[in-house]
Amino acid sequence: MTTAQHLNQQFGIAGQLTFRDDASGLVVAEFNNAHATASLCLQGAHLMSWQPRSQSKPVVWLSRDAKLAAGKSIRGGAPVCWPWFGAHATEAGFPGHGFARTVPWQVLESGIEPNGATRLTLRLVSSDKTRAQWDHACNVDLTVIVGDTLRMEMATENTGTADFVIGEALHTYLQIGDIGAVRVTGLEGCQYWDKVGGSELKNQVGSVSFTGEVDRVYINTSAECVIEDDKLKRRIHIKKSGSLSTVVWTPWTEKAGKMGDMGQPDGWREMVCVESVNAIDNVVKVAAGTRHTLIVEYRAISF
Ligand code: BG6
Repeated sequence: MTTAQHLNQQFGIAGQLTFRDDASGLVVAEFNNAHATASLCLQGAHLMSWQPRSQSKPVVWLSRDAKLAAGKSIRGGAPVCWPWFGAHATEAGFPGHGFARTVPWQVLESGIEPNGATRLTLRLVSSDKTRAQWDHACNVDLTVIVGDTLRMEMATENTGTADFVIGEALHTYLQIGDIGAVRVTGLEGCQYWDKVGGSELKNQVGSVSFTGEVDRVYINTSAECVIEDDKLKRRIHIKKSGSLSTVVWTPWTEKAGKMGDMGQPDGWREMVCVESVNAIDNVVKVAAGTRHTLIVEYRAISF
């Protein structure tokens, strides 16, 4: 029996949740219910797509050049960054944004919510390789609830006897009409570390709009953000808890060209990342025997 057949027997939900063996050798969960469709790659617990039935376009963006491959992150969707965000503080050889997005996760549970949304919970599988980079006793679980709202909950449980500190993100790529025609509200007055042109602390004046590369870590904010999209005539609401940093990122022409998997020549113009994060000033101490949970809800409303 293949891995997907085995998972279908244990966790599949007729007409709502099926697992398939992808040609890449990875396993993908496909969601299909009265509210939405979505897909998630078990490697990395990587949500790849989400489209509520109320929307004619996906809300979570996946690059048309995205590739599924063992040990590689997928371009687009909602990469899980853990247990650090960005470059590792001291080890240049460790992967950017941590290892969670490129290692296997196992399915723990699936089910149907009272409102008909479909739930799937996965747990990161640790190995000698992950322990060589992060040697702490813990469980990391991601629950995804696919409905008209998409809810993602990432829980880090410290099962050891010593405290530890993590950085983390749900690094979600959102589908937009055109980067020049959107603005992000909710961050007015916040301070941010500007990663473009040196790391400087700045103040956000007004909403965020885009005329070039933007790579900012807003700190000390749990505010709901809204992507106002005049071209697709919709607003994407991003509401979070357990997260005090928000990253806003668009690579723009030059960087997107160098990345090679952003959907050349202009696929990158149809995405913006609004990431729910704990980084820099907001890394989280998880005391021994406790659990920390980052929760994000996405909702698209047309106008
Ligand atoms: C963002 C970072 O979160 O992720 C950017 O702020 C980075 O600096 C981007 O370029 C993409 O990262 P990666 O590792 O997925 O290419």
